[in-house]
Amino acid sequence: MRKPIIIANWKMYKNRAAAVAFCQALVPLLHTTEKADIVICAPFTQLDVLADALAGSAVGVGAQNFYPAAEGAFTGEVSLPMLQELGVRYVIVGHSERRELFHEDDMLVRQKVQAAYAAGIQPILCVGERLEQREQDMTVEVCSGQLLSAINGLTGTQLRTLIVAYEPIWAIGTGKTATAADAEQVISALRQAVAAQYGQAVADCVRFQYGGSVKPENISQLMAQPNVDGALVGGASLKAESFIQLVHYA
Ligand code: 13P
Repeated sequence: MRKPIIIANWKMYKNRAAAVAFCQALVPLLHTTEKADIVICAPFTQLDVLADALAGSAVGVGAQNFYPAAEGAFTGEVSLPMLQELGVRYVIVGHSERRELFHEDDMLVRQKVQAAYAAGIQPILCVGERLEQREQDMTVEVCSGQLLSAINGLTGTQLRTLIVAYEPIWAIGTGKTATAADAEQVISALRQAVAAQYGQAVADCVRFQYGGSVKPENISQLMAQPNVDGALVGGASLKAESFIQLVHYA
């Protein structure tokens, strides 16, 4: 049984005070036992106050980026040990905004996935196709290519804990959601791709999320799909009232 996982990606929004206010609104609304794992991935400057505000709650803290070396002459970068010091347990890797805007390629994404596992931080690996790739019927080819490249070299034990977010680029921040059936079709193909290479037992443990204009109105339908284990949420994760509705989708 895969435990559902709902992750907020705040992108480059909020300041420290707003992050704390969000947690003060969110935490009292959480059930004592949640059906889903919950994670908030915030900008670097909010991570320490976020970890403090969420201490003792079931909500995990994640970062949105890092550089895959422990230390060194990498001006402007932040390492995993530096993040761990702040209480970070998850990191987003391979988000389309990093691939497209900051030219992160499959090689760097693989290095980051490996570095995260080596440091004991859980990567949230994002894959997704551009609109023109979807129109050319290349969705599964593109996404499975990104996925298999990123996980190449991981052990079975590492793979079993993997979290993969399928985020079609054309659905991010546009209000256009892939239909629940589309999400299921792509994610089930991605699970099969993992099974073909690493065996069904491993593939059955990987948690696949959908991301792209997820909101309280469409979460239940998405989560009802057998292969969709969670959601990676941008816009609708910024307000505690809408995020809690996503967490309590059932
Ligand atoms: P939106 O939910 O705003 O479409 O963003 C999706 C996303 O990119 C989450 O990582």
